[in-house]
Amino acid sequence: MLRDRRILLAVTGGVAAYKAVFLARRLLERGAELEVIMTDSARKFVGEQTFAAITGRPVATGLFGEERVSPHTELAGWAELIVVAPATAATLARLATGLSEDLLSATLLASTAPVLLAPAMHTEMWENAATKRNVEQLAQDGYKLIGPGEGSLAGGDVGPGRMVEPDEIVEAIEAAFTGPMSGWRVLVSAGGTREPIDPVRYIGNRSSGKMGYAVAAAAAARGAEVQLVTSSSLPHPTGVEVFPVETAAEMAERVWELAPRVDVAVLAAAVADFRPAEEITSKLRRHDGVPELLLEPTPDILAGVAKLEKRPFLIGFAAETGSLDGAMRKATDKGVDLLVANDVSEAGSGFGTDTNRVTIMFPDGTSDEWPLLDKSRVADRLWDLVQQIRQP
Ligand code: CTP
Repeated sequence: MLRDRRILLAVTGGVAAYKAVFLARRLLERGAELEVIMTDSARKFVGEQTFAAITGRPVATGLFGEERVSPHTELAGWAELIVVAPATAATLARLATGLSEDLLSATLLASTAPVLLAPAMHTEMWENAATKRNVEQLAQDGYKLIGPGEGSLAGGDVGPGRMVEPDEIVEAIEAAFTGPMSGWRVLVSAGGTREPIDPVRYIGNRSSGKMGYAVAAAAAARGAEVQLVTSSSLPHPTGVEVFPVETAAEMAERVWELAPRVDVAVLAAAVADFRPAEEITSKLRRHDGVPELLLEPTPDILAGVAKLEKRPFLIGFAAETGSLDGAMRKATDKGVDLLVANDVSEAGSGFGTDTNRVTIMFPDGTSDEWPLLDKSRVADRLWDLVQQIRQP
């Protein structure tokens, strides 16, 4: 799957440009976000309107006079992967020498994203010494080439030089996004829940959701299929399916629905333990006096997942203040495979910070203290650990 992957398709001037239309459609069907660049000669083969109609976005064609102020740097920064299909001999030559006189070559020069080239040209051009030199240079520079294949070429000729089929290019793109956790299904909960007191007020907590989002983003970057149930309003991490919720009850319902189908569940949310027992449908008024709120417990989401017949590898979090003794009790008693504990009263480890100092606790009573790290580093180390210890 290529859900939310930001892919830039660059089409250059060869008859295989018509196949790039099919490629665009396949990428969109797989959930990718797609921008298309066409060179002037590509537009002699296929109209830009065709791509615009398929992607629902205008095609980028020039360095100047576009809606974007700086189209080459904006597209270069946006793309997670660039695919040039078809890539003509002239395009290969331009890229091999680092020219940047048109939108396509300037964008590639400005980008750090991986680039996949699908060459298409006549056999003689493909076998020409200059092209061979360029291809060697491009491979050395880190470009990945796919094809060309053998078959019928423009003008009735037959031989090597034919662009590989769109499905093969899609496979190569998917492979480029594949990581060590591809095939894993991961569920993450994040954020602090909000329990309504009346229509305008709630009981909440200081959790920002940053740790859970870092865990979700890191799993997606390793190729996992990630679902994030969240009460936080942080921007959605790339490649993650997001389920917004607000209360503990909503989070419980969604997590319990999704958990039986995942391999790993990371419950990083700071779930409220209590909620107002009574639903108050209109705003509490000052002149009615100080209200007395009766609270009731919320569902224990983690306990519900722990007792599933086929439960996922389960990771709990524990935000403590002062001693971590209580967290060790949770690690041994709650049916988790491991628990990530932190002291939120410590500088740099509190809610909303970008860093965290955590202790990893295991059900057998052992633990491992990690240093103060960026939350994204904590997430990465957590997945390194899970990859090591989880039995598939
Ligand atoms: N959790 C949950 N459902 C709740 C409360 C907590 O699933 N209603 C999960 C959290 O997402 C976290 C773990 O349980 O992964 C531990 O949360 P914590 O609030 O520290 O645990 P409690 O059992 O509520 O412990 P405490 O006695 O500290 O309140």
